[in-house]
Amino acid sequence: MALHTRICELFEIQVPIVLAGMGGASTPDLAAAVSNAGGLGILGAAACGPNQLRAWIVRTRELTDKPFGVDTLLPASVRRGSLEPRKGPSPLDQLPAHKAFAKEFMEREGLADLPPMDQARQSGFGNELDRGGPAPLTKEFFEAQMEVVIEERVPVYAAGLGNPGPYVDRLHANGTKVMAVVGQTYHARQVAEAGIDAIVAQGHDGGGHNAPVGTMALIPQVKDAVGDLPVLGAGAIADGRSVAAALMLGAEGVWVGTAFLATHEAGILDFQKQALVEGSDASTTISRSITGKPARVIRSKWTQAWEEGDLAPLPMPYQSMIAMPVLAAAMRAARGDVAPGFAGQGLGLIRQVRSAAEVLEDLVKGAERALSTGASLC
Ligand SMILES: Cc1cc2nc3c(=O)[nH]c(=O)nc-3n(C[C@H](O)[C@H](O)[C@H](O)COP(=O)(O)O)c2cc1C
Repeated sequence: MALHTRICELFEIQVPIVLAGMGGASTPDLAAAVSNAGGLGILGAAACGPNQLRAWIVRTRELTDKPFGVDTLLPASVRRGSLEPRKGPSPLDQLPAHKAFAKEFMEREGLADLPPMDQARQSGFGNELDRGGPAPLTKEFFEAQMEVVIEERVPVYAAGLGNPGPYVDRLHANGTKVMAVVGQTYHARQVAEAGIDAIVAQGHDGGGHNAPVGTMALIPQVKDAVGDLPVLGAGAIADGRSVAAALMLGAEGVWVGTAFLATHEAGILDFQKQALVEGSDASTTISRSITGKPARVIRSKWTQAWEEGDLAPLPMPYQSMIAMPVLAAAMRAARGDVAPGFAGQGLGLIRQVRSAAEVLEDLVKGAERALSTGASLC
């Protein structure tokens, strides 16, 4: 039995396994390794400014002649032209109290403040600032990313957040296939109407930003909501059995993050890979303490401090201003107890750091085994 679906035809790949765009982790090395192994590698370019994104695309083309993609975020505020939230008190007024909370945390944990440029470099934004590009997380930043995606005629674009609708015509004119990640059916309908080519249904079980609906409930409901549009299942798909399950739920492919994080090629730090190997099904939590949006992350002293403290995290992007200095210092100090990183609930299935090609082969073989066992039960 060979895993082959419409997703293989759409993206011109051998197996319908797609590397999730993971900011800082899905680098040219990892994306090219997945594409070379027969899947589709997606660059996690959320934090890349235009210059760095172009350099990543060029580097990926040096490493593979196979199709690959780029994932960025398109927050709704981009269309509004402002990062101010729609209502309520300005988060800017709350910054002093939140900064004091972070300072106290750093003192308690013995973390030394890094100079601002080092903080930015440690968080992935530094290269762009070095080159005089737009300030991170501004409207200009997101728009400049999209111009590079269009100019470079990348084979696939994925919007990890928001609706790529305004860009679909220009992307299609270049032959770029367009995807969007959704966590609820109302959002699935919106992006389907925008004329995209495939949709990623990412459940609450998954690593990074997510909505409250679990993967098993979400995939079939998104499938029913979007008619004939191909769906990729995502969220805690970390071995062949879960790939098979996603296909049984109506997906025609999978978008896999955490399982590809524990690879030699992933762009995260060694102590973070170790945290994945040591983690279990109980190691993650949902926290707004890092970006301001609910995200699944490995539980840490930082997430715990916000759970136990009196302050609520600020909305995106203000919470990043609070968290970035702390997490940059913790990363520099290799503090797995403070900055272990985002991960999905499937991390208990990860037992060692391997090559991306080995992980992909296991996902495919395991899925084929699970599907043929299931077939024999009929
Ligand atoms: C370390 C990490 C970073 C992530 N960064 C992004 C990102 O920058 N953009 C995005 O669209 N999704 C991001 N995600 C979510 C993934 O694209 C994907 O939906 C998720 O990893 C799927 O769940 P899984 O990790 O359980 O496989 C991230 C996830 C992780 C684990």
